[in-house]
Amino acid sequence: MGNQEVKAAEAVVIGGGVVGLCVARSLALRKMKVLLLERGENPGMEASSAAGGMLAPQCEADRADEFFELACAGRDLYTPFADALREETGIDIELDRTGTLYLAFTEEDEAEITDRYEWQRRANLSVEKLNANEARELESWISPRVRAALRFPLDVQVENRRLVRALAESVKRHGVQVRTNAEAIRLIIDRERVVAVETSVGVIHTSVVVMACGAWSSFLTSSGSRFPGVRIEPVRGQMLCFALPSPRPVRHVIYSPRGYIVPRRDGRVLAGSTTEHVGFEARVTAEGLRKISTAATEIAPQVGGLALTDYWAGFRPRAEDDLPVLGACSEVAGLFYATGHYRNGILLAPVTGELIAEQIVNNETPALLNRFSPDRFTPVGMF
Ligand code: GLY
Repeated sequence: MGNQEVKAAEAVVIGGGVVGLCVARSLALRKMKVLLLERGENPGMEASSAAGGMLAPQCEADRADEFFELACAGRDLYTPFADALREETGIDIELDRTGTLYLAFTEEDEAEITDRYEWQRRANLSVEKLNANEARELESWISPRVRAALRFPLDVQVENRRLVRALAESVKRHGVQVRTNAEAIRLIIDRERVVAVETSVGVIHTSVVVMACGAWSSFLTSSGSRFPGVRIEPVRGQMLCFALPSPRPVRHVIYSPRGYIVPRRDGRVLAGSTTEHVGFEARVTAEGLRKISTAATEIAPQVGGLALTDYWAGFRPRAEDDLPVLGACSEVAGLFYATGHYRNGILLAPVTGELIAEQIVNNETPALLNRFSPDRFTPVGMF
């Protein structure tokens, strides 16, 4: 769908990253007429394309809490979701089920993986503990300095740039109007209700707005009456990309406490990442490159000899408690948040789409969303 004139929609989704695309798709599947606003030239060109695509809730979790429950629901939705996208668009998002390894190189790392193993075994989750030989038998690229490892067979990966393409295609097929090069400027609110969005391409009348603008979520203002803003901070993550030899010598996603490598089917291996509070400075730095290379070569020394073929930086959207901000704003009817996904945007996008769409259509909050309500914050100010 091109940039044709649309002046009204049942729902306006602000932000064309994977979260906004998934919300738009889930609403369209429930027969709503949706307009999606993307300020860039194409959807999904920011954090959604910069990500590593790991769907690894168990590998990163220290406890079973509400976030873990949401993250596992997000991961478990991916199989039917990938099948549906392939059916709708013909695009394979390369949901790779090889699994994920978490390596220990120091005594401290070993204590961490032992704790993680124990709580997950007690919770009957799928996790295996490997000694150094077992880990290296599974992946010969792993450094001989490894002391122990965990294997998470259900923690998988997806090719996130293919995901962006598939979602952009899918939403068009479901009748979502995608308006690119279109910036949302302010919400127009009348008597505590959303009535329109003023954008760089005109005013769009609507009674439902979903804020899915990732790291840019704090820029939206309002007129008529004000709305409580949520503070979302950009956290830069740099990524490196190397060319693997053929045949591919490594298949699992492999983490250590200091970084990760993600082998792709097309012969690339991604290595990440940094966690930097530097505003919107989209640079790859010498220091970032050094840190990521050090972590990647600790995992697999052969990475040090690979050709660096690409590098980039993206902005993770972080709320002050690191948790996503999901659901209805209690002070302004018709306003919903789907932002603050921080390190987990790819993992949580499909489940976010489904839960937000359910909340909008049924006018009821799904239980999984309770912990993530925007109401948990003291408003940072009225915009
Ligand atoms: N999800 C991995 C990262 O944010 O680096």
